[in-house]
Amino acid sequence: MIRTALFTHQVVIFKNQLHASAKAQFELTNRFDSAATSYGHGVTLDAKRSILHPDLKTIPHQPQVQVIGNGFIPSYEGLTNIQLRHPHHRTFHATSIPDADDRDYTRFYRWHIDAALYDLAPPVVTTLLAVRVPSGRTQTCLYEDSSPSPSLQVPLGTTAFTSSYTTLSLLSPSDKLFALTTRVEYAPHPYIWMSQSRSRADGLGLLSTNSELPLDSLPPIDPSKIQILPMCWRNPVTNELGLQVHPSAVCKLHLADGTVIDDLAEVREIVHRLQRPGIAPEFVYAHDWEEGDLVLFHNRGVLHSVVGAFADDEVRLFRQCNVAASSFPEGPEAAVAA
Ligand SMILES: [Fe+2]
Repeated sequence: MIRTALFTHQVVIFKNQLHASAKAQFELTNRFDSAATSYGHGVTLDAKRSILHPDLKTIPHQPQVQVIGNGFIPSYEGLTNIQLRHPHHRTFHATSIPDADDRDYTRFYRWHIDAALYDLAPPVVTTLLAVRVPSGRTQTCLYEDSSPSPSLQVPLGTTAFTSSYTTLSLLSPSDKLFALTTRVEYAPHPYIWMSQSRSRADGLGLLSTNSELPLDSLPPIDPSKIQILPMCWRNPVTNELGLQVHPSAVCKLHLADGTVIDDLAEVREIVHRLQRPGIAPEFVYAHDWEEGDLVLFHNRGVLHSVVGAFADDEVRLFRQCNVAASSFPEGPEAAVAA
């Protein structure tokens, strides 16, 4: 029943789950892919250079479960004296909201899929448990990608979701055909590769300033681990196709006629044009977190983003779990063959 609900609605919320242990959270997450057992990003090589490194603390006795949040935590689940840091857009975006406006205004930090996108297959499900949530206020999330800026009123520290099925449905017939027939190549070690790059103001992909790290400065690359995935992924319950691309990690597009677009600026412009309609305010679900909320989301059917900025004394503590999948997502051709 939970499986059907999740793949039908993409985001499912259970209230009052503070009693759930880290082990129980892992076991629930693992139910969706019992052959998968390791954390979705594995043990990231050269973790200090990865942009994911500062935001995650691994629970020692349950390494598939990570602690994320904001502020100082003296002790939790075997971790002691940990300093959590809610990602702030100023550390990742090319421009940022002025400090004087930072309390009232915010941005989507980074629209993404939870996935290593090199070697390991994208997790099917991510679970998030809110253990501590600072008292609520709202912020105005600005897109700042057009003038006047679209905006969305959001609860402080919301997690924002948008459906990949909606995104595909919004495309013109020609763009839809392009999306259904194109494959997306991801950069090797993408979170190190992009570590010097900066995001668009709407959090939906990177600006192109030739700041990606050269491949020979990355950890060793095994070509067999580079991922070229369909641009559209099939829902295992509804059979629907959704446009599912990690906009920051993409590096090339493989077209149906064999053409490979490898001009990074062009690749990013195309992907942004296809995905931008799907993050319009009316299509975003911004969850209003309460302590004890356990959110399951279909990581292959939504993009999600951290949003907001906390003060140092606003302590937030979450547990996050996903597992690298035992198989890759199906694309459109599976149905054609069926
Ligand atoms: Fe995430």
